[in-house]
Amino acid sequence: MQDKDTWSGRFSEPVAELVKRYTASVGFDHKLAMFDIQGSLAHAKMLAACSIISRQDLNDIQRGLGQIENEIISGNFNWSLDLEDVHLNIEKRLTTLVGDAGKRLHTGRSRNDQVATDIRLYLRSAIDDLAILIRDMQIALLDLAEQHTSTIMPGFTHLQVAQPITFAHHLMAYFEMLKRDADRLQDCRRRVNLLPLGAAALAGTSYPIKREYVAELLGFDGVCENSLDAVSDRDFAIEFTACAALIMTHLSRFSEELILWMSPRFGFIDLADRFCTGSSIMPQKKNPDVPELVRGKTGRINGHLVALLTLMKGQPLAYNKDNQEDKEPLFDTVETLNQTLRIYADMITGIKARPDAMRSAAMQGYATATDLADYLVKKGLPFRDAHEAVALAVRFAEQRGCDLSNIALVELQQFSVLIEEDVYQVLTLEGSIASRNHTGATAPQQVAAAIARARAYISK
Ligand code: ARG
Repeated sequence: MQDKDTWSGRFSEPVAELVKRYTASVGFDHKLAMFDIQGSLAHAKMLAACSIISRQDLNDIQRGLGQIENEIISGNFNWSLDLEDVHLNIEKRLTTLVGDAGKRLHTGRSRNDQVATDIRLYLRSAIDDLAILIRDMQIALLDLAEQHTSTIMPGFTHLQVAQPITFAHHLMAYFEMLKRDADRLQDCRRRVNLLPLGAAALAGTSYPIKREYVAELLGFDGVCENSLDAVSDRDFAIEFTACAALIMTHLSRFSEELILWMSPRFGFIDLADRFCTGSSIMPQKKNPDVPELVRGKTGRINGHLVALLTLMKGQPLAYNKDNQEDKEPLFDTVETLNQTLRIYADMITGIKARPDAMRSAAMQGYATATDLADYLVKKGLPFRDAHEAVALAVRFAEQRGCDLSNIALVELQQFSVLIEEDVYQVLTLEGSIASRNHTGATAPQQVAAAIARARAYISK
């Protein structure tokens, strides 16, 4: 910027106050500061290596940026709205500190490729943090599952009791979801981890730069191939937010279950007090606020995904200021997800299961009816006939208000002459789960094997 008030010599009046506030992003993009400095250091090193700036300039830039970094970390950096964004704030301070060398830093670079680089560095680091947090949550799930391979609960479809399962099997369903979530993030990272710098404003630069060297310095896997694309597309951020929305969706489903399970109607679990709050009016209440908020915050992340998609959809090539709006949704997505995963892993370790309540719920909905049908099929009855015979038996039990296993043999035989004394083995909850004994099913030995495979998978 040339003088204090106007943007440059080209302008005859300063930007209006309101416009200045409207267009400024420094209020939020200061979060990119450390990545901005990292990117600038790599850019300056390359400029010096290519003899575009002198060694002395590089030394000055390094010294100045080092001091700026300290000022920011110690909270002594003076962010100015007049300087619009994080990039101009840092550059201006650098020039104040080291003079002309500071003014040379922006050679062969534009804020367009600079900001795209900063966001990619930010997101790469965010993904790496999230990967650790997902893993922590998976470990918490495995630790809890391991204690419950023989804990029987009702499995539901349509939220009606369907068939008995083990609590561990249910928990391991979430392990699988998180496994795919982690994979998706790693896949997304490959597309994030490419260098935009060198694209300059949109068409590249006339200086003899070495983009590959900058990429190497910054730990990128390569450079963005097309300069127009490099400065303008934010698909990598959209993709990340889509991954985040899926993770939150999975956690939201889990939350819904925790909320149900904690209700006295279910009473399957208790959450540690540190994740719950009381009511200001009802002294008896202990509310599952954390899972409720996770469910609520999922809506917010879904909103960010739609915001980013909508931000992109009408933009002609190449960079447009619209893209400045990518940051707040992205930052909020990263921060919300990070906190949610952190708190979730801890919350899982604080789940206290109530196997008795789970068991008695499994006893209530004729959960072993399918087992009785399968028993008849194994004795030669066609499945549809078996299905009907058992339906009649369930009706009989319902009228009597008892479980199938409480019906006497002679009475059961009214529904099929194939029924013999051994039927009671399949009518028990234990018999039912033990019989589902193949990969992916709920038999305790299968679930234990699944847990062992999962442990090996995440410790790779
Ligand atoms: N603050 C801007 C952003 O977030 C930096 C890029 C500005 N480029 C421009 N040509 N105005 O996108």
